[in-house]
Amino acid sequence: MLPPYPPLLNPSLLAGDHAALAASAARVSDLGLTWLHLDIMDGHFVPNLSFGPETLHALRKAGNKLFFDTHLMLEEPQRYIEAFAKAGSNLISIHIEPGYDHRATLARIRELGCQCGIVLNPGTGPEYIEGLLPLVDLVLVMTVQPGFGGQPFRRDMLGKIRQIDAWRRERGLRYRLEVDGGVDLATATECRAAGADVFVAGTSFFRAPDQPGFVSAFAKL
Ligand code: DX5
Ligand code: ZN
Repeated sequence: MLPPYPPLLNPSLLAGDHAALAASAARVSDLGLTWLHLDIMDGHFVPNLSFGPETLHALRKAGNKLFFDTHLMLEEPQRYIEAFAKAGSNLISIHIEPGYDHRATLARIRELGCQCGIVLNPGTGPEYIEGLLPLVDLVLVMTVQPGFGGQPFRRDMLGKIRQIDAWRRERGLRYRLEVDGGVDLATATECRAAGADVFVAGTSFFRAPDQPGFVSAFAKL
């Protein structure tokens, strides 16, 4: 059997300093981390707005070399993937809920040279993405209703994480299994036990009183 992935802490820039995003992203690199989670919101699929491709481009121009994990919370993600690929995304994730051609969009993300991911809201059952699993590099299980940082973790998502991890092992697939929303050391420990290996942390990371300690605790999950 293939060994499980080591745990990967993935800070969400949404909880960073929006007047100094480059400095917030640089802090992530300085702590020795390798991924950065970028939450893109359109005010339609989710009731909030965040930032766009120009922001990613500016972070690259400022010298940031982190792996940009781009989470598109968009009603029509297919219209924007090219802009995000060109702006410096390494991985682009799209939600299963809106009606568009998911397969074609995942294939296009790959064609643009990025890894691709599929995302499920808390109300969406794992069966909705089952057929797409062989096509993706990452599955993102939302552990809050997307739109805002700082919400409480939904423990009722643990069964879904277990199911998506079981499918991965049974079918010999190698997608990463990411959780996003209300993730701190305690809830990440539960997600790790359920099979998750990528941990998005917004509030808990940027507000941690001892960030180096927080990072090393995550590495031991
Ligand atoms: C929620 C976003 C999350 C958010 C997580 O819509 O997808 O990535 O930034 O924030 P915390 O970690 O504060 O729940
Ligand atoms: Zn996110």
